Amino acid sequence: MRPDTSAPVRLEDYRAPAYRISTVHLDIRLAPRSAKVRARLALERASDTAPGTPLVLDGDDLRLTALSLDGRVLADGDYTVAPDRLEIVSPPTGPFTLEIETTLDPDANTKLMGLYRSNGTYCTQCEAEGFRRITYFLDRPDCLAVYTTRIEARVGEAPVLLGNGNPVESGPVPGTDRHYAIWHDPHPKPAYLFAMVAGDLACVSDSFRTCEGRDVALNIYVEHGNEGACDWAMDSLKRSMRWDEEVFGRAYDLDVFNIVAVSDFNMGAMENKGLNIFNDKYVLARPETATDQDYAGIETVIAHEYFHNWTGNRITCRDWFQLCLKEGLTVFRDQEFSADMRSRAVKRIADVRLLKSHQFPEDAGPLAHPVRPRLYHEINNFYTATVYEKGAEVVRMLKCLIGDEAFRAGMDLYFRRHDGEATTIEAFLACFQEASGLDLGQFSLWYEQAGTPVLKVDSVYEKEAGRLTLTFRQQLAPSPKQPDKKPMHIPVRVGLMGENDEELAPAAITGADTTGDVLHIRTPVQTVVFSGLTGRPVPSLLRGFSAPVSLKSDLNESDLLFLAAHDKDPFNRWEALQSVVMTALIAATAGAARQEAVTVSPALIAAFAANVADDSLEPAFRALCLQLPGEADIAREIGHDVDPDAVHAARTAFRRAIADDIAPTIRATYEAMRDEAEFSPDARSAGRRALRNTLLDYLGHGSDPAGNLLVQTHFEASDNMTDRFAALSVLTHAALPGRDAALAAYEERYRAVPLAMDKWFMVQATAPTASTLERVRQLTGHPAFSAGNPNRVRALIGAFASGNQSQFNRADGAGFDFVADFARDLDRRNPQAAARMMSAFRSWRALEPGRRAHAEAALRRLAAETDLSVDMRDIVERCLQ
Ligand code: PHE
Ligand code: ZN
Repeated sequence: MRPDTSAPVRLEDYRAPAYRISTVHLDIRLAPRSAKVRARLALERASDTAPGTPLVLDGDDLRLTALSLDGRVLADGDYTVAPDRLEIVSPPTGPFTLEIETTLDPDANTKLMGLYRSNGTYCTQCEAEGFRRITYFLDRPDCLAVYTTRIEARVGEAPVLLGNGNPVESGPVPGTDRHYAIWHDPHPKPAYLFAMVAGDLACVSDSFRTCEGRDVALNIYVEHGNEGACDWAMDSLKRSMRWDEEVFGRAYDLDVFNIVAVSDFNMGAMENKGLNIFNDKYVLARPETATDQDYAGIETVIAHEYFHNWTGNRITCRDWFQLCLKEGLTVFRDQEFSADMRSRAVKRIADVRLLKSHQFPEDAGPLAHPVRPRLYHEINNFYTATVYEKGAEVVRMLKCLIGDEAFRAGMDLYFRRHDGEATTIEAFLACFQEASGLDLGQFSLWYEQAGTPVLKVDSVYEKEAGRLTLTFRQQLAPSPKQPDKKPMHIPVRVGLMGENDEELAPAAITGADTTGDVLHIRTPVQTVVFSGLTGRPVPSLLRGFSAPVSLKSDLNESDLLFLAAHDKDPFNRWEALQSVVMTALIAATAGAARQEAVTVSPALIAAFAANVADDSLEPAFRALCLQLPGEADIAREIGHDVDPDAVHAARTAFRRAIADDIAPTIRATYEAMRDEAEFSPDARSAGRRALRNTLLDYLGHGSDPAGNLLVQTHFEASDNMTDRFAALSVLTHAALPGRDAALAAYEERYRAVPLAMDKWFMVQATAPTASTLERVRQLTGHPAFSAGNPNRVRALIGAFASGNQSQFNRADGAGFDFVADFARDLDRRNPQAAARMMSAFRSWRALEPGRRAHAEAALRRLAAETDLSVDMRDIVERCLQ
């Protein structure tokens, strides 16, 4: 924590460090209520630092127990110390060694930053500013040092001792019940990548030979009893390692790659050099306890952390404003990996759905910020969908604009030029500008300007002239601290579908530069003419979602339904149908607010029916087409004066209408998608389950009691978590008669499996019924509920706040008050988790006036508290600004 918590950090204030640390020797002696950390730092004044300049090291909540410089104990006047700062008043002008001893209490560390214990295992979390909770340091990403770590603990308490890099030596401490291990990491790294683990853990091992001929030992450490749940994670790791060699030419660079799964973790996982620490949710999987979605999540997160070894670790960030340099790029890389492992179209649709449901609302509300922010009060609050997911979209756009070859050349140049450095977005972009020859000046605005551009497209077709004219108009609304925006460089991938199912090729395109089928849209209004057309085209715009914009085209329902059935680009087939459905749902919401009955147009029903029955399409794709936009998506598209009850009513009625109108088709396909063989988590089998369970959702929400009854049968017959949890969700959310029995049976079966119990809490917290808030309140008193476990808190309170539109946004404001109160208490224990929970308020201004007033009152009540954490205050005040 910084001393003056009201002062923000600004990008333009960046200065290189006054001193450099070349090596760090850590000696960590662990005991339950006391850990002694001796840090020996080799320091040197930077050449442009005036001799005698004080050395100021960061700390957070630290207790100094010894201090010496070049072997001499420092006298009182030589330094000043506080929990958050150690200053050496007048350091030597030449190189010197500082030895610092701090004493910590890992058990008392409830923030889960720095050194803490999770279920008895000692572990660390240092990104972004956690290392300063372990020792005084230049805790900033541009301070790169070589680390050697000695860890010592009681053998009985912690038989396993892990550090970064390669193991050097280990053995007993003679005459004691203790032992030690020494680890050395030859790669210079910033402190945020430091890690250490000590505990009584089981280990699953494998090995990998890199393309450079290095044999790497792979280990996954888990709590005893979970050894059987690591196969998928290990398999994903090996596939990631191979893929990064093949696709990006990147090989692993140490002799060991260790992964540790812990149960108390604020985030998903952490890419510490050679010692990744994971939330166990992203490691453990068995068919009995993990859904297909969990399997896909594990594959992605394992890959993501592994890919950080090059994009993040070998090349890191100069400062935290450059966070997207590692995160956006690494998300892009993990998305490409998953696309190659699975169906590219299905993966793209899933990613765009996530972007629209998480990032678009962020960009549209008070928490909007650029992909590269210029100012922060608390960096923890910038691990956002904008930095991660929009950051990945920006890299994807870059690839789209310069083409695959130049993109790979640019990446190669980036790795060659910046290996071993802490660098910036400017340096990254310069590599692609050089590799492609394209001026990226305007493109770089994607990193600077917050908000989702609206791209309007009008089309005129002139038959005799064989000409199609598209007029693009881009608009970017003001966002916090950015009243005026400049036009963006937007890649728009376009195809022209002819009436006979074939793509029409224009003889010429004027009005825009092109890269293959990508138009470069750069001006506020840009007119693009396609000439030499032999028939009427239906333009398929923004194929593959080539830019993160809100597209408003003038295509009518029949053109869109034509694309939904015929577009050569599968993403746009999905998108076309979604956009028809969205328009219908928005109209239905307006109708529901006036108590009108919801009807679905015959053309739309026919499109759904065609999709359900179309065996030429892969089941996973059909499942996505049949899933209606979520309530939050509808609310986002409506954009103002939202009544979440009307949204819910409209969507429910709409789903029922479809379920009833095409019941026989749904039922037949549901039967056809039964398991063919034994459970397997592969993409094809998962796709069949996804389709079947999507249809189950319709069956459970239709009017036919026989269809409803199938849900219970499905639950009882299920032999894997995907099917069991799908049925439990429908039973609970549709409030079907078998609900209570199913919830009880599930609880009984999974009492001892924490990750499965998270799902049990979550499914109840997201039920769209008036009694849910009361139920959630009760569940906070359930013996399995714990405010100290972030996964459990997210499963119950987080899911209620972010995943239950109608109940969090209750008209009486009770949902807001409950979440605000809970977050307020949580803030005393774990500020990072509390602040994240409060971001559920980010769309409050888009609500109708009554709810808006309740939400504002809850936020103002928190803002008036005097002892909020920096994390919480930052979110609450930005929400109110
Ligand atoms: N850097 C981690 C990732 O994206 C996320 C993380 C951030 C984890 C901060 C812990 C703390 O892979
Ligand atoms: Zn990451």
